[in-house]
Amino acid sequence: MTEQLGNPTLENLLTETRAFPPSPELAAQANAQPEIYDRASTDRLGFWAEQARSLLTWSTPFTEVLDFSDAPRARWFGDGQLNATYNAVDRHVEAGNGDRVAILFEGEPGDTRSITYAELQREVSRAANALGTLGVTTGDRVAIYLPMIPEAVIAMLACARIGATHSVVFGGFSAEALFSRIIDADAKVVITSDGGYRRGRASALKPAVDEALAKGETTVTNVLVVRRTGQEVDWTAGRDIWWDDALAAEPDTHLPVPVDAEHPLFILYTSGTTGKPKGILHTTGGYLTQCAYTHLNVFDLKPETDVYWCTADIGWVTGHSYVTYGPLINGATQLLYEGTPDTPHKGRWWELVQKYGVTILYTAPTAIRTCMKWGEDVPDQFDLSSLRILGSVGEPINPEAWMWYRRVIGADRTPIVDTWWQTETGAIMISPLPGVTATKPGSAQVPLPGIVADIWNDAGEPVGKGGGGYLVLPEPWPAMLRGIWGDEQRFKDTYWARFPGIYFAGDGAKYDDDGDIWLLGRVDDVMNVSGHRLSTTEIESALVSHPSVAEAAVVGASDDTTGQAVVAFVILRGEAVGRADEVGEGSDVVAELRNHVAKQIGPIAKPRSILVVAELPKTRSGKIMRRLLRDVAEHRPVGDVTTLADNSVMDLISSGLNAAPAAD
Ligand code: PRX
Repeated sequence: MTEQLGNPTLENLLTETRAFPPSPELAAQANAQPEIYDRASTDRLGFWAEQARSLLTWSTPFTEVLDFSDAPRARWFGDGQLNATYNAVDRHVEAGNGDRVAILFEGEPGDTRSITYAELQREVSRAANALGTLGVTTGDRVAIYLPMIPEAVIAMLACARIGATHSVVFGGFSAEALFSRIIDADAKVVITSDGGYRRGRASALKPAVDEALAKGETTVTNVLVVRRTGQEVDWTAGRDIWWDDALAAEPDTHLPVPVDAEHPLFILYTSGTTGKPKGILHTTGGYLTQCAYTHLNVFDLKPETDVYWCTADIGWVTGHSYVTYGPLINGATQLLYEGTPDTPHKGRWWELVQKYGVTILYTAPTAIRTCMKWGEDVPDQFDLSSLRILGSVGEPINPEAWMWYRRVIGADRTPIVDTWWQTETGAIMISPLPGVTATKPGSAQVPLPGIVADIWNDAGEPVGKGGGGYLVLPEPWPAMLRGIWGDEQRFKDTYWARFPGIYFAGDGAKYDDDGDIWLLGRVDDVMNVSGHRLSTTEIESALVSHPSVAEAAVVGASDDTTGQAVVAFVILRGEAVGRADEVGEGSDVVAELRNHVAKQIGPIAKPRSILVVAELPKTRSGKIMRRLLRDVAEHRPVGDVTTLADNSVMDLISSGLNAAPAAD
C-alpha cells in the first residue's frame, strides 16, 4: 500500500504554503457563500432536497430524499418524476429565455453555428420524434458515436426526452470497442456521422460503425448518420438513414416523457482493473441535481453573462456532466469546439477565448502542460481578460502547471478550481469553491458541501491530518453510480468490498497539515493517460490477442506531459522472435503491436513504448510484479526483488529497456 502511494513528486509538495484567497469582489458576488458548508453539514439530506427542488423542475414532486435500504444501490428522490431534456431546454424557453444562445459551435475548419435554446428545443424535438419513428421507446438503449459537434448534444437530449438510455462511445475508440459496447448494452440504434475534422483533415467515422456491426449479430436496427464532412460512405439500405432526412420528416414539437427519478439516463463505459470495460449506470433525478449544483457553485456560473467552455469530449463523463447536462440545466451559454488545440496553430484555444469572450474555462492538466511546452508567448498574443474562473479535471495537477495556468492564462487573478471526481461519482466531489476557498497549487482540497469524503488506512481507520491512505466516500451522494450495466456482482465487488459497505474510489490520497486533500493517483491497475482512463489488463489482453505475442505486462510510467504513459513488456512467440530482425523499439514487430492495440481499443491506448523481453518478473505463484516493471519504465533502481521466482529476470529487462529508444 505505502509502496503504491509512493509518488515522490507529489509527496514532496505537501509542504505547500502558497495560498490564493478570492478577491473581495469575487467573494462578495459568488453563488456559494461560506455558510453553505454549515447548512449542508447540519442537515445533509435536507440540503440535497433543497438543491433538487430549487435547481430542477419536477413533473411529480418527490417526498422521499434518500433510500439506501437496498445498499449499495441508492434511490434519491425516488418517488419524484421529471424529464432531463425538459429541464435542460424547454423550461428555459418557457421562462422567456428562448433567444439566449445555448451553444456557440466552432468547427475545426472554422465554420460556426450559434444555437439558441428555442432552436435547440426544435432540433431536439425533431430528433426525439425521429427516434420514435424508428421504434425507440422509453427504456431502450441508443449508442452515440459522434465527433464534438452540436448533434452529439442534440442526440443525447433526444434520447433523454423519450426516456431512452444513451450510451456515448468516444469517437476515438475502435470498431472493436464500439462493437463490444453495442453488444453489452443491446443498443437498438446507433447515431454517428460520416466523419469529423481533426488535425486539419476530415477523418472518417462511419466505416468503424459498419465494421462494428459486421462483427456479429447485434440488436441494432438502424444507424442515423449526421452529415458533417461530406465524405463518401458505404450505405446499408434499410438500416442507414441520414440524420437530416430523418429530422426533416418530423414535426419540431414533442412532448417530453416524464420518467421516474431513478430511470436510467445513460450508460458510460469506463476502464476497470479487468479487461472488460464497465458500463457505469447513471439515473436521472440525483445525477441532474448534483450536475446542476456543482456547475453553478464550483464555476460560479452567472447564466446571463458568462460564456462557459469545457474542452472535454462528449465521449467522457466530463462531456456528459459539464457539456451537456450541468450547463444546459443551468441555462448557460457555452462554446463547443470540434478540434484539437494546435490546429491550424498552437494559439487556437486562446484565439477562441478571445473571439467568444470565454469567462469560465474547464480543461485537463495534460492540456495545460502541453501549452506550457509550447511557450507562454503563444497565449500572450491573445486577449484573455474575459476569463474569471479556471477549472482542472482528470488527473492530479502538478503545482508548476497550476501556477502557470493561473499566471499566464488567468493573469494572476483568476481562481483555479481543481475538481476531483470520477465516471462513477457522476459529478464533482472534491473542489475548492471559488468565492470561498483560498486555493492551493496542486490540491483539490475539500469535499463540496453535501459530500462526505475521507482518507482511510489499510485497516479502515481514518488517517487524520498529515496522514495518507485510500480515498473513500463514506456517505451516498445524489449523482453516484447505480450499478454496472448487467453485472450487479461486479458493482459490489469493485467498489463496496475493500471496506465493506463503503465506496472505495481506487485513488490514493493524503491530508496535509491543514486538512486539505491531495490526490496521489490510482492504487489499482488503472492508468491515467492525458486524463483518459485506461486499464492495464485491457491493453494486455489486446496485446496477447495478437498472434505474435505469448505474454504481456503493461504499466503506467510517469510522463511529463501526459501524466502517465503506457509502457508494455511483451514475450514473443517462437516464430515471431525468428521473424523480427531485431526487437528494439523501431522494429516491425513493435510497430505492428502498437497498431494492433490502436485497432483493438483505440489510438489513445497505443503504448508509448513496447519492450520485447525474454521473461517477465513473476512471483513464485505466477503473479506478474508490475511494481518492478514500473521501476524499470521510470528509470528507477529496481525495488525489492526477493519475492521473484527468478531474480535475474530484472537485470535482463533493465538492460534491454535502457538500450531501447522511446517511441513517439
Ligand atoms: O484517479 C482519479 C483521476 O481520474 C480518475 C477518474 O477517471 P474518470 O472516471 O475517467 O473521470 C475523469 C473525469 C472526472 C480518478 O479516479 N482524477 C480525476 N480528477 C482528478 C483526478 N486525480 C487528481 N485530481 C483530480 N482533480
